[in-house]
Amino acid sequence: MRVLSGIQPTGRPHWGNYFGAIRQYIELQEENDGFYFIADLHALTTVREAEMLRQYTLDSAMDLLALGLDPNKATLFVQSQVPEVSELTWLLMTGTPMGLLERCHAYKEKKAKGIPADAGLFTYPVLMASDILAYDSQVVPVGEDQVQHIEVCRDLAGSFNHAFGETFVMPKAKTLDHSAKVPGTDGQKMSKSYSNTLPLFGDVKKIRKQIMRITTDSRPMDDPKEPEDDHLFQLYRLFGSAEQTEAMAAMYRRGGFGYGEVKKAVADASETYFAEARSRRAELESNLDYVHEVLRNGAERAREVAGEVLGRAQRACGLR
Ligand code: ADP
Ligand code: TRP
Repeated sequence: MRVLSGIQPTGRPHWGNYFGAIRQYIELQEENDGFYFIADLHALTTVREAEMLRQYTLDSAMDLLALGLDPNKATLFVQSQVPEVSELTWLLMTGTPMGLLERCHAYKEKKAKGIPADAGLFTYPVLMASDILAYDSQVVPVGEDQVQHIEVCRDLAGSFNHAFGETFVMPKAKTLDHSAKVPGTDGQKMSKSYSNTLPLFGDVKKIRKQIMRITTDSRPMDDPKEPEDDHLFQLYRLFGSAEQTEAMAAMYRRGGFGYGEVKKAVADASETYFAEARSRRAELESNLDYVHEVLRNGAERAREVAGEVLGRAQRACGLR
């Protein structure tokens, strides 16, 4: 099965991104033909500083490799290295009703807030459709917020096929597991927009300090507490084994513990959990030639597939 997903290089990944998305993408490389790319063309709608975009793009590739994406199992590449996708975007654009894009939430929300939007943001879903269709993708794992874009993609594929004959493979969204919602340091959903994130990579001591500052309630230490209601417990559960998690839950129900102990346990467990990825990340940083080679090979493989699909689409609509 051809599985494809893209990640925008717009910032440093946090625990929520890992458990809610990245880990699930990477697991899919085992049984499938995975195509994963860094969506730098999409990021250009928000990142308007060249050096920053370059660095974020490389960082995102290293993050994925460090977290277990295996270039021998899956194809990893940078979106803009496959110009066929941009070309295909135009073919799709000519059959895209304005109303369809006007209903898309990113554009609609910006407009509702009175923020001026540009054509890049407006046509963002068409580029995304092209990303998906260019590789004959069958399954697209995404977060809930991207499902609307997959619907747009299916619409565009359907109307192109209808107008010009069977050309594109119809993709399906695979929504990620929601029980994986990770709380942030303030108990709300962890998100860049709430400044409550805990990063995957970075200075361990600094991250430990951030963990020690997680907000907690002020009930007396001795009170028994329901673990499921507590965000600190939910964070611990991400890292602890089944037995450790059960032991922690029992401690909550008994009462007579301090949140400081739990925070220390979260810090220790997360440090161990990400230790391997962290050391792999450091190795990659000192071996950028390898990272560039992976991306070059990935782009080459991706171009082969996209070139074939673009040719098919061009012939179908009379461009060749
Ligand atoms: P942010 O909210 O920090 O801007 P993004 O919107 O860039 O994160 O999310 C990228 C991916 O990570 C999405 O697939 C999203 O579903 C997932 N994700 C982000 N935050 C969380 C979270 N707190 N829990 C679970 N998944 C998350
Ligand atoms: N728009 C997606 C996001 O913001 C990233 C993306 C771009 C993508 N192209 C894609 C995801 C194609 C899946 C398939 O998260």
